[in-house]
Amino acid sequence: MTSRVRGVIARSKGEPVEVTTVLVPDPGPGEALVAVQACGVCHTDLHYREGGIGDDYPYLLGHEAAGVVEAVGDGVTSVAPGDFVILNWRAVCGECRACRRGRPWYCFATHNAQQKMTLEDGTVLSPALGIGAFVDKTLVAAGQCTKVDPAVPPEVAGLLGCGVMAGLGAAINTAPVTRGDSVAVIGCGGVGDAAILGARLAGARTIIGVDIDPRKLELAKQFGATHVINSRETDPVERIQELTGGNGADVVIEAIGRPETYLQAFYGRDLAGTVVLVGVPTPDMRLEAPLLDFFGRGGALKSSWYGDCLPSRDFPLLVDLHLQGRLPLERFVSETIGLGDVEAAFAAMSRGDVLRSVVVF
Ligand code: APR
Ligand code: ZN
Ligand code: ZN
Repeated sequence: MTSRVRGVIARSKGEPVEVTTVLVPDPGPGEALVAVQACGVCHTDLHYREGGIGDDYPYLLGHEAAGVVEAVGDGVTSVAPGDFVILNWRAVCGECRACRRGRPWYCFATHNAQQKMTLEDGTVLSPALGIGAFVDKTLVAAGQCTKVDPAVPPEVAGLLGCGVMAGLGAAINTAPVTRGDSVAVIGCGGVGDAAILGARLAGARTIIGVDIDPRKLELAKQFGATHVINSRETDPVERIQELTGGNGADVVIEAIGRPETYLQAFYGRDLAGTVVLVGVPTPDMRLEAPLLDFFGRGGALKSSWYGDCLPSRDFPLLVDLHLQGRLPLERFVSETIGLGDVEAAFAAMSRGDVLRSVVVF
């Protein structure tokens, strides 16, 4: 029987989001119906609303979520009703060129539900990142459900489904930071702070947080930055060099997605060091720098998609580290809100007031 539930949609470009009735089909083969318990508000949700990702309105927003499996379709063996899961947008296919080469974290053919969630008049909804989780119940591919220890609160667990995983993974998977490294993180929002946490977990010796907002620098210290730089007041490249014996950091993680901060990352690293871009730029942005510097400085320039995570490997591990008190993920939850508060949360996010607002159900 189709479920009639409440969900948050972006009906058209730039319009405030609205809570409306969403029809969710019963799970078909390979699908799971999940009762959402918590879903974080991410920049990508706002980008969908603003038309930055596509024109397939209306969008069912939300994609950083945890909940309980309510029903599964035919052939599903990986999860069962009652399982506590984090939703992921990397349900690997096992067959694409990346999966076949043993690099499933690059999977190019990830799975989503086949059936569509709709409005009451039958209008098909486009779920954000193939999830759509600002809704009481959502329909996903079973592979998008990653079972984790249910002892973790859902508002904490859900964050691993997107932004926090992106930042942690930029440090521990993409770079990867190793014991003794010096690391600088440019942009200390939710993603950057997660990168700081990841660098600490990996054993970095020096961790430098760079931001223009003093509130964020304070948080960066709490997450494990050994030094912070207000780049509005101090040249970050010079200061990173000073803090690293005059050389630059072994790894610089850019967690904003802007050309000027990318260049700070590029020049703030040591010779043969690594830059990781995890911030998402917009299509109009351009980079201008001498090509010779790209050769002469050597090293690796990497991008981190979703923290190069493999949900089945990373989510249960990170939840267990959290439960052991080694990964304070609860600090990312700035506020818990209701389904009707997503628009206000976008405003808080744009003002820089929060690391994460999390809708709880
Ligand atoms: N220099 C230094 N810091 C800056 C600058 C700048 N020019 N501009 C913005 N910042 C800081 C902000 O003060 C804020 O602390 O960058 C941080 C960005 O954090 P959030 O807005 O909270 O965004 P977050 O959720 O962390 O995501 C960062 O990663 O996944 C992507 O789409 C996401 O592009 C976004 C980025
Ligand atoms: Zn694949
Ligand atoms: Zn996201």
